[in-house]
Amino acid sequence: MSRMLVTGAAGFIGSHLVDRMLDEGVEVVGVDNFDSFYAPRIKRRNLERARSHPGFRLVELDLCDFDAATRLVLETRPAAIVHLAARAGVRPSIEHPLRYTEVNVSATTTLLDAARRLDPMPRFVFASSSSVYGDRPDAPFREDDRVDHPISPYAATKKACELIAHTFHHLYGLPVTGLRFFTAYGPRNRPDLAIAKFANLIEQGRPIPMFGDGTTRRDYTYVGDIVDGVVRAAERCKGYHIYNLGHSEPIELREMIAVLGRALGKEPVIDRQPEQPGDVRQTFADISRARGELGYDPSTPFEVGLDRFVSWFRSR
Ligand SMILES: NC(=O)c1ccc[n+]([C@@H]2O[C@H](COP(=O)([O-])OP(=O)(O)OC[C@H]3O[C@@H](n4cnc5c(N)ncnc54)[C@H](O)[C@@H]3O)[C@@H](O)[C@H]2O)c1
Repeated sequence: MSRMLVTGAAGFIGSHLVDRMLDEGVEVVGVDNFDSFYAPRIKRRNLERARSHPGFRLVELDLCDFDAATRLVLETRPAAIVHLAARAGVRPSIEHPLRYTEVNVSATTTLLDAARRLDPMPRFVFASSSSVYGDRPDAPFREDDRVDHPISPYAATKKACELIAHTFHHLYGLPVTGLRFFTAYGPRNRPDLAIAKFANLIEQGRPIPMFGDGTTRRDYTYVGDIVDGVVRAAERCKGYHIYNLGHSEPIELREMIAVLGRALGKEPVIDRQPEQPGDVRQTFADISRARGELGYDPSTPFEVGLDRFVSWFRSR
């Protein structure tokens, strides 16, 4: 049985990955510090299923305790590390830039440096983000586009992770894959993301703050499809690669709100607000590289994924 170390295991994407790996018979060591970015009880609930599985071990650890994080990697000796722990969120990164560099960049560097000391070295897969593409009119976004102009501290930290990961690959031959996720959604949706926030407001009959004129677009990607891409990347990780994991069908904000309203069976009330600093006008993934090299095939239509989100949302 192979062993995988998953950081951010209690989070939205991490907990789905953990469940999926346990189903596949992989032994999983999950790391999380139940950070207060959103309610820790939500994260504990995300791991309810995993915690009763004999193949799962949870380590509660702040990856910014660099010595402890290094020890954990060296003692666990995983075949693969999937590093998803991070401070997520674009807008809060503008308020707390230092916290973002500490968690996202320094913790990532620590894990890379621990990984390269193992013999054999583990495959190292980490979460980057579509935000590295910055605010650009040309789309879809391709992995070989220049990404030198991030517009939020969060985006800059993700780009920094790609650079430092490349360095470790170059210096030590560590096999590394960086995955640029495009707005994941679905069951266990992060509560700070628009779909979950808006669902709560629509349910309560309260107005939805819509930033801008509703024509900004996001390439919403069903979490199950993203996890499928992560698993494929972890299986095939060698050399140094970056992949977009998106759906490649961007949806306008006003359309997302309308579909969400229909899925909830309620008419959304919209409160128009000015555009937010740090937000990009569109995200749109070209996924031909991930399709060709990983066999990644995101197949969940937005309406279907939203219905699954709503079923989960109502079941809580
Ligand atoms: N959800 C998206 O749409 C999306 C898009 C692009 C990139 N990403 C990236 O994917 C990854 C997973 O995102 P998510 O949406 O599941 O976020 P999430 O916030 O639900 O999960 C992140 C987890 O990391 C943990 N964590 C944070 N700091 C930590 C620390 N110092 N030590 C240990 N654990 C820590 C948190 O407690 C949380 O459970 C992140 O790296 C994020 O930046 C997500």
